[in-house]
Amino acid sequence: MSLTAEKIQSNWQEFLGNIEKYITGDRKEKLLTFYKKYEERIVLMPAAHKKEYHSAFPGGYVDHVNRVVKAALSMNKVWAEFGCDMSTFTTEELVFSAINHDLGKMGDENNASYIPQTDQWRKDKLGEDYMFNKQVAFASVPDRGLFLLQQHDIKYTFNEMLAIQTHDGLYDAANEKYLKAFMPEAKPRTSLPFILHQADMMAARIEFEIEWLPKFKGENNLAPQKNNFTLSSKSKSNTKSKALNTVKSEGLKSMLDSL
Ligand SMILES: [Fe+2]
Repeated sequence: MSLTAEKIQSNWQEFLGNIEKYITGDRKEKLLTFYKKYEERIVLMPAAHKKEYHSAFPGGYVDHVNRVVKAALSMNKVWAEFGCDMSTFTTEELVFSAINHDLGKMGDENNASYIPQTDQWRKDKLGEDYMFNKQVAFASVPDRGLFLLQQHDIKYTFNEMLAIQTHDGLYDAANEKYLKAFMPEAKPRTSLPFILHQADMMAARIEFEIEWLPKFKGENNLAPQKNNFTLSSKSKSNTKSKALNTVKSEGLKSMLDSL
């Protein structure tokens, strides 16, 4: 699976547009400054290191996050329709949590978490186009994401902390303390974490369907294949030059140009 240079570029504009539209106060500028500082790394980041996981291709991270923002806003309406107490969180908290829920995947200040696989065997046989960067000390994705936010002086609310921390729901046993409580006073006081988790789960599931179901229907070989991230010759000339013209950063431009 691959995204065109144009799609990668429009995804990035949508990503920044969500911050512009939904985030308020001085943290809006701080968030924009933060994401522009790491733009070259984040724009081409995969959402995972193994292609069996969702969106493990260049640009997959932003593509996934944008889908989660959209899904969270739609899911929000469903919860409202079913009588959820919408006064316990704000739309800004919902979108802030969605935008930053997987931020910890980017790595630390100086090193990306996912770097190109150097082991050809793992690449060919296991489909691992990326590998974890050993320069990055271990932390869970939510912990690292929250650390990066505070490191860049971007304040988040209690609701946002809880939602980002538990976005994997009970797929992460570490969340049992928040989500498996039986005492009423120990349960979350807001449905925000559940809405974000459902949005994230739905997005990842749909990304799986887009990428893998056609292969199961025999349109592609199921055997691990070498990923081809180059654009088709048909779309190359038009979409690529159009996308490149909108890119200001020279570094990013040359990275997109090499796709
Ligand atoms: Fe996610």
